[in-house]
Amino acid sequence: MTTPTPILAAVIGSPIGHSKSPLIHGYWIKKHGLIGHYIPIEIRPENFESAIRSMPKLGFRGANITIPYKETILSIATSISDRAALIGAANTIVFGPDGSIRADNTDGIGFIENIRAHAPDWRGSNGPAVVLGAGGASRAIISALLADGAPEVRLSNRTRHRADMLKDQFGAKITVVDWARVSEAMDGAATVVNTTSLGMVGNQPLRVKLDNAPNFALVTDIVYTPVDTDFLQQARSFGLRTVDGVGMLLHQAVPGFEYWFDVRPEVDDDLRRVILA
Ligand code: ATR
Repeated sequence: MTTPTPILAAVIGSPIGHSKSPLIHGYWIKKHGLIGHYIPIEIRPENFESAIRSMPKLGFRGANITIPYKETILSIATSISDRAALIGAANTIVFGPDGSIRADNTDGIGFIENIRAHAPDWRGSNGPAVVLGAGGASRAIISALLADGAPEVRLSNRTRHRADMLKDQFGAKITVVDWARVSEAMDGAATVVNTTSLGMVGNQPLRVKLDNAPNFALVTDIVYTPVDTDFLQQARSFGLRTVDGVGMLLHQAVPGFEYWFDVRPEVDDDLRRVILA
């Protein structure tokens, strides 16, 4: 009897020590009894392209791509999914048997699946969304909300120019709101999302008021350190439903694992505990 060759996957970035991805994929490899490894690899910018091109020869099936390479990878990829092209960044690559490199972005699907896991009746189409922040995470979330039928996205960012640029890209369904007036934009909102780094441990709190939000609004935050941000606590104090950001991190990992290991993994409570430990 021959021993199967281990399946290899990785997360590539610089720095990489903080990444939770090895914990997530390691949990699933063990849970499913697979013969495989998922490892963090730090690559310097000058070596990025040659290192990526070597990976299929070393036996890797694919990788997650993180800061600072999520945009760079698009220029190396052989093919790019529609959603990665729209977002302008990829977080997941899959190597073909011929050494081809397919780039995808699963952040938006992670965002949607996380909310649905906690609020099964939630749809982007339930009504207008308020999105705070206009960085990379915001682009993925806006494209996911629009794909899920959001009729309007009210976008607000400290640096208004960045929000205006996203409006130019995503079009008429985006309404740019001044950062100083964003509380007024909560009126009638079905979904409110913080995509800024405000509220994260070590950063300033997010001081946006939610008192104008309707009682059916769902509030979510991509910050997950701490898990229960002040913003989510404020939302609950108004009786609003909240979904924390840990699940987005877990759900964005699902498609990559399925591409590489041929098993669709589940986001379960034990995984959440492992990541939060
Ligand atoms: P990511 O790719 O993770 O979204 P990013 O591109 O650095 O990260 O974006 C961070 C977001 O947090 C931006 O919307 C940023 O606002 P600016 O575009 O004005 O920089 C927002 N942000 C960070 N610190 C902030 C602060 N002190 N006040 C308001 N917004 C802040």
